[in-house]
Amino acid sequence: MKTSRILPFAALLLAQTVMFAATADSPRERVSLDAGWRFIKADAPEAGTNLNYSAIKPWLLPTGNPFTTNTPAVRPDGEPAGDVSFAQAGFDDSQWRLLNLPHDWGVEGQFERALPGSTGKLPWFGVAWYRKHLDIPATDAGKKIYLDVDGAMAYAAVWCNGKFVGGWPYGYASWRVDLTPYLKFGGDNVVAIRLDNPRDSSRWYPGGGIYRNVWLVKNSPVHVTHWGTYVTTPLVGPAAATVKIQVSVDNDADADATVTLKNEIFELGADGGKGKSIASISVDGVKVAAHQSQSSTGQIAFKNPKLWSLEKPQRYVVVTSVEQDGKIVDSYETPFGIRTIQFTADNGFLLNGKRVPINGVCDHSDLGPLGSAINTRGLERQVEILKAFGCNAIRTSHNPPSPELLDLCDKMGMLVMDESFDCWESGKTRNDYHLLFDDWHERDWRAELRRDRNHPSVILWSIGNEVGEQGNRSKFWIAAQLTAIAHEEDPTRPTTSANSDVNAGFNGFNTNEDVFGYNYKPTQYGRFRAANPNDPLFGSETASCVSSRGEYFFPTNMNTPAGLANFNNRNGGKARNQMSSYDLYAPSWATPPDWEFTGQEKYPFTAGEFVWTGFDYLGEPTPYDRTSRSSYFGIVDLDGFPKDRFYLYQSVWRPDFPMAHILPHWNWPERTNQVTPVHVYTSGDAAELFLNGKSLGLKKKGQYEYRLHWDEVVYQPGTLKVVAYKNGKKWATDEVKTTGPATKLTLQADRNKIADDGQDLSFVTVTVADKNGLMVPRSMNHIKFSIAGPGEIVAVDDGDPTNLEPMQAKEHDAFNGLALVIVRTKAGQPGTIVLKAETDGLKPATINLKAD
Ligand code: GAL
Repeated sequence: MKTSRILPFAALLLAQTVMFAATADSPRERVSLDAGWRFIKADAPEAGTNLNYSAIKPWLLPTGNPFTTNTPAVRPDGEPAGDVSFAQAGFDDSQWRLLNLPHDWGVEGQFERALPGSTGKLPWFGVAWYRKHLDIPATDAGKKIYLDVDGAMAYAAVWCNGKFVGGWPYGYASWRVDLTPYLKFGGDNVVAIRLDNPRDSSRWYPGGGIYRNVWLVKNSPVHVTHWGTYVTTPLVGPAAATVKIQVSVDNDADADATVTLKNEIFELGADGGKGKSIASISVDGVKVAAHQSQSSTGQIAFKNPKLWSLEKPQRYVVVTSVEQDGKIVDSYETPFGIRTIQFTADNGFLLNGKRVPINGVCDHSDLGPLGSAINTRGLERQVEILKAFGCNAIRTSHNPPSPELLDLCDKMGMLVMDESFDCWESGKTRNDYHLLFDDWHERDWRAELRRDRNHPSVILWSIGNEVGEQGNRSKFWIAAQLTAIAHEEDPTRPTTSANSDVNAGFNGFNTNEDVFGYNYKPTQYGRFRAANPNDPLFGSETASCVSSRGEYFFPTNMNTPAGLANFNNRNGGKARNQMSSYDLYAPSWATPPDWEFTGQEKYPFTAGEFVWTGFDYLGEPTPYDRTSRSSYFGIVDLDGFPKDRFYLYQSVWRPDFPMAHILPHWNWPERTNQVTPVHVYTSGDAAELFLNGKSLGLKKKGQYEYRLHWDEVVYQPGTLKVVAYKNGKKWATDEVKTTGPATKLTLQADRNKIADDGQDLSFVTVTVADKNGLMVPRSMNHIKFSIAGPGEIVAVDDGDPTNLEPMQAKEHDAFNGLALVIVRTKAGQPGTIVLKAETDGLKPATINLKAD
């Protein structure tokens, strides 16, 4: 059953979970628990090896009907028999490794040729334990104390002082356990977490470990429920907005409570600081029975709201305070935004009433050389790079993202398709989520919806990716159930799924979601519209073009008379386990970018697309799964360096940004006098190409043409220049030159000044350059790094999918002229960090970074 297909002036929303600590007069504390964990990559001897899900299932299976349970907290049914030594408070863990979270044990390992390329050839699987000593003061007695885990991969089982507390199997979920009954107030406590990552549980690199942030939350017995606020905006207009605030309060005390709930709205500055108070509302006499929860809803209208938009992502915050017997017992902050979203059948997606084409990308959650361990600056840099080529939306394929990514999207003006699962009951790998689906999907889904429903950036709930049930009528009820749960938790946003089966648009599967998403079907948009005249449609996954940065193979298949049909010839782009960067090549199920652009242009009712993928990622190195470690699908490479495709998307997605880009590079001594096709991506409509000052002709883009190409250029060293035009006027130029031999290295940091908080990063690009500073294409020099001062090298890489050198090292090859070094500060240590790069025969380079 379908509820609203077109969501009216609905949703404005919302917020993140409490990234904010409580206000000064509130007893709520939310402190990072990332520092100082002990770690061992082994199982407790008596636990045996490979305790699989069926063995731990009885411990982790929550009781109760999840349809009626209003909090996702875990209540385990069972308990492991006997004592587990690694979990005991008195266990001597002093020999275990000491580390800080977030941590990914997989990326610390070596790439191994024998391991599957699909999961990145890294050792992310197996069992590991983490232990954390906690000093809980006696003054905390009487408080509720929770452990909040943003993500742990996978099958987390938690003990506190030797007692089993609970856990959560899905590695991408955020979850909470209640430590209170197990804690010693006034003394040392030990939290122990066992993780188990089964082999064959993923189609890409999942990482291994507590790879997201972990928090300790202390509350009064009467407090706002976990993810217990829901902020929507039922009315939004230029003159006024109505903000609806639903608050759930838990009473964990033995006596009934009567509280006053106050909600006050403040503007948030771009830096996250609170601005002026806008409005507030108080409700007296809210009764919360002992050991129960109570919801209360209030509405506030205020004038001249500043809408959240991609250009100006204005946020507000609701500060909720709970007052009992004249005392503030809790204070909780819910950032949100005011905007309307609407998916229409005939005009795509509307943000604040205006059509916004979704120029999106799908991304997995790893951070390239940093592995899966989340880092806020690493994520922010990703969003910056995506925005630079005009991307305005991220699909969190194929799982819930880190909370920090959603915060950044809210702050930076990026839309999000928030996805849940890569499979339902029908699995894709032997040990993937299908093993958990029946027991856990509802809890996982509700947890995701509640955690994320206040974020203004989130515009779509995705119930799954290419699920095996798309063609199985007897299982369509699963889609209906997931949509119903989403509507129950958040009626302001539509549901969707990403469908690879062409029939899913016609067989009735499509009627179980609000907005229909096709993967790789640009030629079906017209047919879908004819059969489903009222249903919004978009490209949920598109292109899957494969290329390696800086690799070009000849002949290209555009040497024959130009036209989209030529893209059908998908051979000819491969060599040396690399893919040609002419951006013409895609696997059999996929298409070159141009095909999807055509689909979007021909069928303008389509809401847009999510390209597979924005960034190259660890794993899934199609078509070289046997030999390579990382994917070829990215618009940018694993390190964030633009491939040529960056400029192709920029030319279409930023039509008003004057740009032109020439490919390939122009260092082809072995091709002198040979035909070497030149392609130009430009946001203009025509361009003239010159080789060594001589015109090779002016070309104009025809209908459904997104690139200009000169297929008969005969290579001579020198300078290629393009002058692009728009509406007959000069618009942009680009130039590539044959370089001299490499003579030196150069270093350039994305940020020369970084915070001395032990987390901030500087991404330093190493360029192999000629004497004029031009990057020398095809340079693969082996570079050694050294560092002095208060910083450390956390990762090195070159973006080459075939390179199996370790990324946690101080040396690495360059790939086609570039390498990346990632430097992190040390907490509380300001000063100058000096990074040096050296390679045989070339002048070395140094750069100073300031930690402050
Ligand atoms: C899709 C799938 C993605 C990825 C992609 C590669 O079918 O949804 O997860 O595997 O293919 O082209």
